[in-house]
Amino acid sequence: MGVLRAGGTHLARTGAKRRPLGRVWNLPAFTVYVREHRYTKGQLDKTGEFTISIPMGGIDAKINQICGMQSGYNIDKVQEAGLTLEEPEAIKTPGIKEYPLTLECRILYSQEQELPRIPKDIRERNYPQDVDGTAPLANRDAHTMYIGQIVAAYIIR
Ligand SMILES: Cc1cc2nc3c(=O)[nH]c(=O)nc-3n(C[C@H](O)[C@H](O)[C@H](O)COP(=O)(O)O)c2cc1C
Repeated sequence: MGVLRAGGTHLARTGAKRRPLGRVWNLPAFTVYVREHRYTKGQLDKTGEFTISIPMGGIDAKINQICGMQSGYNIDKVQEAGLTLEEPEAIKTPGIKEYPLTLECRILYSQEQELPRIPKDIRERNYPQDVDGTAPLANRDAHTMYIGQIVAAYIIR
């Protein structure tokens, strides 16, 4: 966390100066985009926080298939994917042992995308209006952007 506070992560790019990656309003931040009818969206709006869990040393295909394609409206993903929840440090949302690089985030700001402002080809590919909002991948729903302030960052051992 000290490294993040000090601006220790950097976006690699060409150009003159080094600028820290992942800071907004001079705070360490992580931004996520969630469609309207995701179960996840209701939870973010209700709790005002989220945890990012990043795999180290490989992706587990079963975890990704269940967490990325099934909905919390229909199943208990923790149980189905065999995830081990870990006590959080600064918020109430737990981390996941199987994906140990963990960022705990408090939501500072949210804003729904305006579909008409998205380039036409991207909009048509990613927001097909003939696909219901319950579809797991591209569908008619816009994304809401959530900027989360990173309030704890660690690796679960
Ligand atoms: C690799 C991958 C990345 C995804 N990224 C997002 C995303 O950034 N935002 C989103 O709304 N859905 C995303 N999805 C789709 C959701 O994970 C999927 O619809 C899931 O069923 C939603 O579950 P929920 O209803 O419990 O929130 C992604 C799916 C995959 C496979």
